[in-house]
Amino acid sequence: MSGKGIAGQAVRRRAAVAVEEALQSRAPISDLLETARGGLAPRDRGLLDELVLGTLRWLRRLDGVLESAAGRPLAEIDVELHGPLRVATHQLLFLDRVPPYAAVDAAVEEIKRRSHKGAAGFANAILRKIAAKANLASWPVPTEDPVEAIAIETSYPTFLVRRWVHRFGEGRARAALEAGNRRPAFQLLCFGDREALAAGLRDESVETELAPLATQGLAVLSGDPRETAAFRSGKLYIQDQASQAAALVPPPAPGDCVLDVAAAPGGKSFSLLAAEPGLRLTAADASLSRLLRLRANQNRLATGFGLAVARAETPPFRAGFDRVIVDLPCSGTGTFARHPELKWRLSESELARLSSQAFEILLAAAELVAPDGRLCAVTCSVESEDNESVVERLLERRTDFRPERLVLPTQLSPFVEGPGRWRVLPADDRDGFTVHVLRRR
Ligand SMILES: C[S@@+](CC[C@H](N)C(=O)[O-])C[C@H]1O[C@@H](n2cnc3c(N)ncnc32)[C@H](O)[C@@H]1O
Repeated sequence: MSGKGIAGQAVRRRAAVAVEEALQSRAPISDLLETARGGLAPRDRGLLDELVLGTLRWLRRLDGVLESAAGRPLAEIDVELHGPLRVATHQLLFLDRVPPYAAVDAAVEEIKRRSHKGAAGFANAILRKIAAKANLASWPVPTEDPVEAIAIETSYPTFLVRRWVHRFGEGRARAALEAGNRRPAFQLLCFGDREALAAGLRDESVETELAPLATQGLAVLSGDPRETAAFRSGKLYIQDQASQAAALVPPPAPGDCVLDVAAAPGGKSFSLLAAEPGLRLTAADASLSRLLRLRANQNRLATGFGLAVARAETPPFRAGFDRVIVDLPCSGTGTFARHPELKWRLSESELARLSSQAFEILLAAAELVAPDGRLCAVTCSVESEDNESVVERLLERRTDFRPERLVLPTQLSPFVEGPGRWRVLPADDRDGFTVHVLRRR
């Protein structure tokens, strides 16, 4: 992935722009990457993804190094320089196979284009200083505060690290933070016998192993599953194993009538169906564009179930579902490995806003559950604002619901945290998820 020459320079320029947009907007990184990839060769797309995701992952650590090399805070450096400097510093410190001159020259050229000669000279001097000590250990973390030191070293906002250390203890918090910095491998949801599908994939040079958490899951060890016959014929869907498992807390029963209230692009619905093809499933979402993605996935996977564009607060359904699953909009703190941009969009006030929104959706969804049915509140977050707080408010309002005592298969039962609550923290081979299961009287 050396990315030399003109193409390499164009990739780095696009990477700098995508990083800047990720930090200024609320657009998902997948959408920004999709735009930035336009017209690039597959090999250059790989480099682009690595530059953008890696720079966002390590942003705080990179900024610390840049400030130290520049001898001044980033806020005192022209903002036009930030993107190229960050992308170049990421290459110098984190990518072995990129020649330092390629990283430095591309950033300097881009800064010349954006600014003036003096700025380019300044950037050149800083980057050469960093290239000369291209080893993270040579750039000490400048703080006495042990929590802030972890936050800088692992590249997260200090307030989040403080919360996680307080809640999970330093060891578990650090493991989850490090897991959020991994480059996530493909994981697959299988429609059909996963061992037979794994054998077929092996014949096409895609090595996998069984996903420990998800009975229909495979974890890819090498190769690209999207290029295989099994993928093309709709036997495979790309989905993290914790996301698959979360949909099955608790496992559904054949014939259950299920409503997936916030379904797009379809992961939880597909997991439910792959595990229990006999379900009667309806999937809804407030976003038409996301629902169209669900429909495209549905067509490829040849799964037929009803779809509706609907806001949970104004549902076009009659009550009476055995199970209403609500994959709530949330802070996404379990998915930093896939969405590193979320680290830098998080704040206490944003958590409070999301919590209120989630409560309104869950309250409306509760109305649709049949007597003796279940309300399953799922998030890809481990924050209490996205989870416990929302459910506690719901239980105060709806005294006809109570947390269900969870009886789960052996691979899922170690993660039961309390009555009705299941949680996995991010780890080397999975994202973090939380599920609350409430039973209606
Ligand atoms: C976490 S995502 C769902 C992911 C999906 N369940 C999956 O596994 O692929 C949350 C979804 O909630 C939808 N949403 C947001 N507000 C909503 C509302 N008021 N009613 C229904 N859906 C909503 C969003 O459009 C988004 O698709």
